[in-house]
Amino acid sequence: MKKKGWLVMVLAGVMAGAAWGAEAKEEKAPEKAPEKAQVISYLGMKKCKMCHKNQYESWAKTPHAASLKNLAAAKPEAVQKMADALGVKIEGKPELAPACLSCHVTGYGLEGGYTVEKGKEDMSDAVTCEECHGPGSLHMKAKKEDKAKTIAGQPGEAKCRTCHTKEMSPEFDFKKYSEKGVHEHISKKK
Ligand code: HEC
Ligand code: HEC
Ligand code: HEC
Ligand code: HEC
Repeated sequence: MKKKGWLVMVLAGVMAGAAWGAEAKEEKAPEKAPEKAQVISYLGMKKCKMCHKNQYESWAKTPHAASLKNLAAAKPEAVQKMADALGVKIEGKPELAPACLSCHVTGYGLEGGYTVEKGKEDMSDAVTCEECHGPGSLHMKAKKEDKAKTIAGQPGEAKCRTCHTKEMSPEFDFKKYSEKGVHEHISKKK
């Protein structure tokens, strides 16, 4: 335990140093006008599909593709069970309730994300690409050589657990769940 705490402290120190270094570097470049803060927004899956058709087709077979449909079709008992687990009260349809939508669609309440009014317009009406890989507006605009740098290429267990919490997904096991919940890794196949 002690050793681990020490390691964490050293790491924190290294990271603080790195952050400081980065700051100092930024301060030393006054000749450039400060860049406008870039807002990274959600695009919707229609765009991702244009360039990543194989991942899209594989994703479409995962349970995530039906996450809003299943929410709308859920029996009252199932809705109640989820609401109890969350500690919220749902009045009316669950597919309109912000407390449920936050994990059952993409980018809910965020720039460019799903809204009830927008519906299926940009295909953000499910747990889609940008829920795992992050919002894609910079990636979309980036030059080919910058594409990989502008999107989260390796969503890991921590990402899954933002939705697969103890309350909502008590059976969650990263390895097992990855087999069924993640699209095939097309580029890694021979
Ligand atoms: C205009 C075409 C285009 C669009 C649209 C596009 N991508 Fe990409 N994407 C690429 C290319 C090209 C690469 C490969 C970059 C490389 O290997 O250097 C890539 C790579 C990726 C990677 C792997 C990154 C890595 O670390 O290797 C992910 C994940 C990804 N895209 C997700 C998305 C998502 C999500 C969307 C929709 C928001 C999207 N892409 C939209 C062209 C596109
Ligand atoms: C914190 C994220 C989160 C929130 C908020 C959330 N859910 Fe879910 N929901 C999940 C996850 C993750 C699963 C998949 C659980 C599993 O199978 O391990 C799921 C599964 C479900 C299922 C089962 C789907 C099926 O295949 O039959 C229903 C029904 C459901 N949720 C309803 C709701 C309702 C109703 C609300 C609002 C009261 C809600 N959820 C809010 C994450 C969430
Ligand atoms: C934005 C929230 C969100 C994220 C992030 C997320 N999931 Fe899910 N996941 C859900 C919801 C909601 C469902 C329920 C879908 C349904 O059946 O309606 C689900 C269902 C699943 C299921 C089906 C479970 C069952 O009982 O059939 C698997 C497997 C799964 N997710 C794996 C993963 C893995 C692995 C990751 C991370 C790489 C991940 N999920 C990330 C929300 C999420
Ligand atoms: C449930 C989470 C999840 C969702 C949803 C998801 N991905 Fe991924 N994606 C992953 C994981 C995990 C990896 C592999 C990371 C690793 O281990 O290299 C990955 C890898 C990729 C890669 C790299 C090449 C490859 O095939 O491995 C691309 C491109 C990609 N995803 C695009 C997409 C697109 C496009 C969508 C939507 C149609 C999407 N992803 C939806 C989790 C997800």
